Amino acid sequence: MPLVDMRDMLFHAYRNGYAIGAFDLVSLDFLEGILQAAERQQSPVILSLAESHFDHYNFAYLMAATVAAARSAQVPVAIHLDHGTEIESVVRAIRLGCNGVMLDASHLPYEDNVRLTREVVHLAHACGIPVEGELGYVAGVEGEDAQKHPGNLIYTSPEEARRFVAETQVDFLAVSIGTVHGRLKGTPQLDIPRLQAIHQQVDLPLVIHGGTGLTDAQYRQLIDHGVAKINYYTALSEAAANQIQENGRHQPRSYTDWLQGVRPAIQREVEARMQLWGSSGKAEEVLARCKRWREVEHVVEFNVDASMEEAQVLEMMRRGRPLLEAIPGVRRVFTGKSLTPGGRFRYCWIIRFAHSEVIASYRDHPDHQQFADTEFRPIAGDRLTIDFEELD
Ligand code: 13P
Repeated sequence: MPLVDMRDMLFHAYRNGYAIGAFDLVSLDFLEGILQAAERQQSPVILSLAESHFDHYNFAYLMAATVAAARSAQVPVAIHLDHGTEIESVVRAIRLGCNGVMLDASHLPYEDNVRLTREVVHLAHACGIPVEGELGYVAGVEGEDAQKHPGNLIYTSPEEARRFVAETQVDFLAVSIGTVHGRLKGTPQLDIPRLQAIHQQVDLPLVIHGGTGLTDAQYRQLIDHGVAKINYYTALSEAAANQIQENGRHQPRSYTDWLQGVRPAIQREVEARMQLWGSSGKAEEVLARCKRWREVEHVVEFNVDASMEEAQVLEMMRRGRPLLEAIPGVRRVFTGKSLTPGGRFRYCWIIRFAHSEVIASYRDHPDHQQFADTEFRPIAGDRLTIDFEELD
């Protein structure tokens, strides 16, 4: 299960002078192309899903595939929510299996950015999950011609960066130093002295959004000054689109023929980035140094008084399920009835937590306390509760 703690992963890159690609994926072709590249390059990788793309795919379906693929990968993987727009997006992303999150409040005034980011940090850290904050504004939209979304790029101020990190306790900081999302005509001009000044103020992995379209030398300068995560999408989208256009020259008759070669095209582009950014060949070391990402099963087995109607018990569990499922860090709630005649316990809850930190935050959550105290415990005096952490 090479899902690993994203904080450990990025700090490894940060301390060892290389950067890990966070590649946004929008389909299974992207997912497979990116992972095949990582395995061929023996590189750690971040599978990133951006909320701005959710109109193009069903987030829950693609997350199910992403988690399954990450778990069977031979290299260290983290799964990240990119540019979440609200707290609910973050809760949902954690429920679906993201182990790193970003809520992008960078377009808001500084105080509002701090307030919202802090809220996310509080929530995510209670689930063991690291948070990326953004300060300054990187204009544009992933995968689109940047000139269409000129916006006003706002550069990150080094002094504000120091305050922002102290006030929010983010784990990684995305900075604005001249990149844009999408493709610009010409090469972006980067403010490297500004990056250097930010790096002197904050000692944590820096993140660059708008990773497409820089020169090899610019990428190296970024990494030299603390950048450990580079977000990358537009060039992958272009590689896929170019391949489809090329296929069109042969007038394909089927959908699968139109998509021939898309996955390898994405894979080639990702492999080139991994080589350039220095993450190639780091998989083994990262696996040895970083904590594995382990989920927890919170198992509650119970009996009720013999006088109690079964329908009442089932109704209590039916009411509890959505309530408990909504608590941050809960990934799934299973309610069950024993199939073993005369077994020690007749009913169970099996609640999957994203991480062992959720044991405490779930226990103390007001919705859990209210439900347990008023609906569950009064009828389930005979019960056994155990938390099991996943093994390799
Ligand atoms: P590009 O689309 O410019 O590669 O940027 C991707 C990105 O920053 C996603 O957050």
